[in-house]
Amino acid sequence: MRPPENVLRFVVKPIVFAACLLPFVLLFRGALIGDLGANPVERVTDVTGEWGLRFLLLTLAVTPLRQLTGWTWLQRFRRMLGLFVFFYVSLHFLTWVWLDQELSIARIVEDIAKRPYVTVGFTAWLLLVPLALTSTRGMMRRLGRRWQRLHRLVYPVAVLGVLHYLWLVKADLLEPLVYALVLAVLLVMRWPPLLSRFRSGRASASVTARSRGGATAPSP
Ligand code: HEM
Repeated sequence: MRPPENVLRFVVKPIVFAACLLPFVLLFRGALIGDLGANPVERVTDVTGEWGLRFLLLTLAVTPLRQLTGWTWLQRFRRMLGLFVFFYVSLHFLTWVWLDQELSIARIVEDIAKRPYVTVGFTAWLLLVPLALTSTRGMMRRLGRRWQRLHRLVYPVAVLGVLHYLWLVKADLLEPLVYALVLAVLLVMRWPPLLSRFRSGRASASVTARSRGGATAPSP
């Protein structure tokens, strides 16, 4: 199944973009009307951190979903989702630097050195920076194979992001454990023997459909 190009470009893409921006818009509105609860800084940190992690997992879900369904057009949303990861995690980081640490370099360095979950989160953000900077088509062309190698950094970023959440939670581990489970499934789906099973499964389904004169799924 492939939506027509015009629908993808002028309908689906703007809808996905608006949906990705919605958590920010709601947060901004909350800040404007003073509706961020008793601790607004904590609320902004939590919302931006959670959405950063959700978009990170969504970005990682694109390739396995494409391989399972044969919907190659899903790939077109990966860069947008990846840039939203950087957007939300950078807001999260800036909230901490600006509103929590009050731009004090000494406090920032001390917190990164002293609290392991901050060290882990900061490392994840640092690793995201080169990914965001090289996300343009021009950089993709210029770096060639090195681009793919560089962008494998998204896996350690996701592991560090989940670890950061697991580490900072004091009581209820359920939510970070759900994220950890989703990440584990997404990583296992990239395991080469499983990948080739998806591919061969879809290829034989497509041959069967063709031999019956039915519609075929496009291969990636
Ligand atoms: C890929 C990078 C990161 C991800 C995915 C991430 C994700 C998260 C998540 C999911 C939360 C918990 C939200 C909740 O309680 O509902 C959180 C909290 C937090 N994060 Fe991050 N984070 C990242 C990077 C960072 C960085 C760079 C810093 C600062 C250097 C940071 C500092 C914090 C702080 C201070 C909290 C709040 C802890 C608390 O409520 O006690 N994070 N983060």
